[in-house]
Amino acid sequence: MIKLSPEPLTPAQIAECDRAQDVSFLYRDLSLLLPAGTVLRRDEPLARRTTLRVGGPADLYVEPPSESALGTVLELTQLRGIPWFVLGRGSNLLIRDGGIRGVVISLQAPAFTTVQILPENRLGAGAGVPLKTLANTARQAGLTGLEFLEGIPGNLGGALRMNAGAMGHWTFDVVHSFRCLDRSGKIHELTAAQAGAHYRGCPMLRNHIALSAVLQGTPADRTAIDERMSSSNTKRWSSQPRQPSAGCTFKNPTPETPAGRLIDELGLKGTRIGGAMVSDVHANFFVNLGGATATDVLRLIDLIKARVREARGIELETEVEIVGEEG
Ligand code: EPU
Repeated sequence: MIKLSPEPLTPAQIAECDRAQDVSFLYRDLSLLLPAGTVLRRDEPLARRTTLRVGGPADLYVEPPSESALGTVLELTQLRGIPWFVLGRGSNLLIRDGGIRGVVISLQAPAFTTVQILPENRLGAGAGVPLKTLANTARQAGLTGLEFLEGIPGNLGGALRMNAGAMGHWTFDVVHSFRCLDRSGKIHELTAAQAGAHYRGCPMLRNHIALSAVLQGTPADRTAIDERMSSSNTKRWSSQPRQPSAGCTFKNPTPETPAGRLIDELGLKGTRIGGAMVSDVHANFFVNLGGATATDVLRLIDLIKARVREARGIELETEVEIVGEEG
């Protein structure tokens, strides 16, 4: 009888087996060491955790219930050489169709989602607090300055990392100080100036995890705050689409040359690839018409970049964070 020997595995297949095994071991370790009831799942679909609603699953998904549990997750993950990624509200994020290898961490347990009114017209908030909640708490406390956060569909951690902005204001304009965790699990407390934040970015939060921040408001009349919030809301809803999107796709090349206007002037609104389309309301928003894949959106990004480069010689840079593996 002829005995069939299996084909030898390729180096890539061996690496994939090792990786899958490491993830299994990490899952077992985390199940044993994290407090009972911790949300910990394998192969967690992520598309529904993003506002664009595309992308593949995470190998492991965890919601640590405390800062010390977060420390445990980082320590064990790094011990096994497995990558990790912190997911905010998924509003500025494009996850490729193959999903995210390694561990996706979400700070939405109560330990990361509380807001407190502090002395000296300040608010203390965890990284998982939605920006809308922050703006509303400031309003209730009679503090102005945070109204612009109301319509940004993110949480505080993401807004710090991105130095998110709207209506001419930036997150770091209102940050007094913040706390973050480095890769070795050490907590740092920094002033806003030490963050080195700039337009749509905060370099130090590329490799640190934001934990919480103290935000500075200014006392003001409630009616004036209400008016500012409502005018910011009206502006947003009259100029931005309501369909699923990841917000603005590109950074503005300069304040005088907004990406949306550039794309609009080239007549590219309505350009469509698969289920992804350049919004006909605001050209810097790429919307999911239903059933879009990450590949559709990525191809649309490439197409629009190429058109703008050819026509205007401008290289658009994505503002949306693109992560994960090809499908
Ligand atoms: N414009 C057009 N056509 C368009 C879109 C815009 O001509 O299709 C023109 C507008 O008429 C306006 C100018 O371009 O004269 C700028 O537009 P807009 O006021 O909408 O501001 P933006 O620069 O496109 C920025 C932020 C938004 C934020 C808004 C409102 C960036 C990349 N985008 O948009 O942030 O909500 O201001 O303050 O800086 C985001 O970061 O995801 C985001 C949506």
